[in-house]
Amino acid sequence: MTKTPTSSFDGQKPGTSGLRKTVKTFMQPHYLENFVQAIFDSVPTLRGGLLIVGGDGRYYNRTAIQIILRMAAANGAARVMVGQNGILSTPAVSAIIRKYDAQGGIILSASHNPGGPDGDFGIKFNGANGGPAPESVTDAIYARTQIIDHYFTELTDDVDLSILQKTKMGGMHIEVIDSVSDYTEMMESLFDFEAISDLFTNGMSFCFDGMHAVTGPYAKAVFKKLGAPDDSVINAVPLADFGGGHPDPNPVYAKELFSKMFAEDGPDFGAASDGDGDRNIVLGRKLYVSPSDSLAILTANAHLVPAYKDGIKGVARSMPTSGAADLVAHKLDVPVFETPTGWKFFGNLLDDGRITLCGEESAGASSDHIREKDGLWAVLMWLNIVAARGQSVTEIVHNHWRTYGRNYYSRHDFEAVENDKANAVMQNVLDQLDTLPGQTFGVETVAKADSFTYHDPVDKSVSKNQGLRVIFESGSRFVFRLSGTGTVGATLRLYLEKYEPANGDLDKDLQEMLSGITKIADEISDIKNITGHNEPSTIS
Ligand code: G1P
Ligand code: ZN
Repeated sequence: MTKTPTSSFDGQKPGTSGLRKTVKTFMQPHYLENFVQAIFDSVPTLRGGLLIVGGDGRYYNRTAIQIILRMAAANGAARVMVGQNGILSTPAVSAIIRKYDAQGGIILSASHNPGGPDGDFGIKFNGANGGPAPESVTDAIYARTQIIDHYFTELTDDVDLSILQKTKMGGMHIEVIDSVSDYTEMMESLFDFEAISDLFTNGMSFCFDGMHAVTGPYAKAVFKKLGAPDDSVINAVPLADFGGGHPDPNPVYAKELFSKMFAEDGPDFGAASDGDGDRNIVLGRKLYVSPSDSLAILTANAHLVPAYKDGIKGVARSMPTSGAADLVAHKLDVPVFETPTGWKFFGNLLDDGRITLCGEESAGASSDHIREKDGLWAVLMWLNIVAARGQSVTEIVHNHWRTYGRNYYSRHDFEAVENDKANAVMQNVLDQLDTLPGQTFGVETVAKADSFTYHDPVDKSVSKNQGLRVIFESGSRFVFRLSGTGTVGATLRLYLEKYEPANGDLDKDLQEMLSGITKIADEISDIKNITGHNEPSTIS
């Protein structure tokens, strides 16, 4: 074991989902090592324990994994299970931590951010429950990075990760694992594979876009088992630069899938996942299912799926996610929780048995089977529901709106905004929160305006400053939030929502329906003037 002197770096504070920086930042000498040592220093159970390590296969993944293995050995981990070629999807890491009672896992991913030498990299610690470390732990890790002056490593050769094998580094046992089989087995235990298979036998056309990212091999294995035609999984080989694209399943970056689904003779069912396999989108022919609606529809139909046939305990959504799931929860008479953005806030609710399902507007959904969002799980939920109801995705969505009404919902992202300008927009809205209630803008009157604070009902922790929301008497609302995952400048997110009852206009153009509150959000925030960005860079 070698003790290497080092000094602290600024800005190693984990954001919404771990520490994300450019590859170049991570490649600085000692940068990754400092953060990894801070994890070992902050989570003492890793000494003598089992650690799971894997990443989404992006550029620098392989080098980073070897660094982590050497440091795990030097820091006294008893065992490490690592994905073959260093690759594990985020949901697979969560499942493996839980299956093998590990003390935690390290996931190397920058999710949907671009990869390659000029792209992004990330590292995240998940605890023994399989979920992202809560704020108390990420705060402790950050505090360590601020005072660190040495780290421990082994001076030893790389481990061959290309073959499934058991080996040793110093006193530490290493097992190179194929996680695809464990994951497929878990999916089989949750869903009615026979009913889903019948969809394919009966000719349902289907397309899953792996986006050249980590989900490809998992999707290939699962859909092969289900008898889907071989060519229905596209872009299935994980590439270090994701084929030059952003592995972000939205209309901009999943263009190939969207073009197929909106073509005259397009498939009946379309889906995609992101860089590390935790996000999902689902499309019907000529219809993109908004992730907020998706969570509501999965909640309303969960009882049709074997794993949830006895009903669900409750549901949780992040605050900016639309209230569509709340309407279903009220009807089912189960509790609904509103958490800050980021999966880590669902962990306590799941562990405490208060919820079965949870999701975010950012294409994330999952259940209590693991403690991460799970892209393929969501797709299989949908397929199982399509099979059980004997209806297409499009029919299911329209039926849902006709029952519960429609929460028209969109997110406008202003990316690469200068930090001080983004802060000025937030400050401008913040300064008006006290005086907005009662004011009228066009047809809307403000009922409530606040900065969202979350009181965790389980561990009683309090998380402040989780987004600025302006809620109108009509129930419409908008929310401003600063992204915690970007690496260049700031990203301002504007979330817009307008509810239309079941007997109202359910098939209108989305942006047109939201144009009234979009205009009010612009007027109150002065976002265009302050930032100089006249249009959002991405609309989803
Ligand atoms: C974004 C999403 C958030 C998600 C996170 C990690 O975070 O908005 O819902 O949990 O990525 O996938 P943000 O950039 O908004 O902080
Ligand atoms: Zn992701």
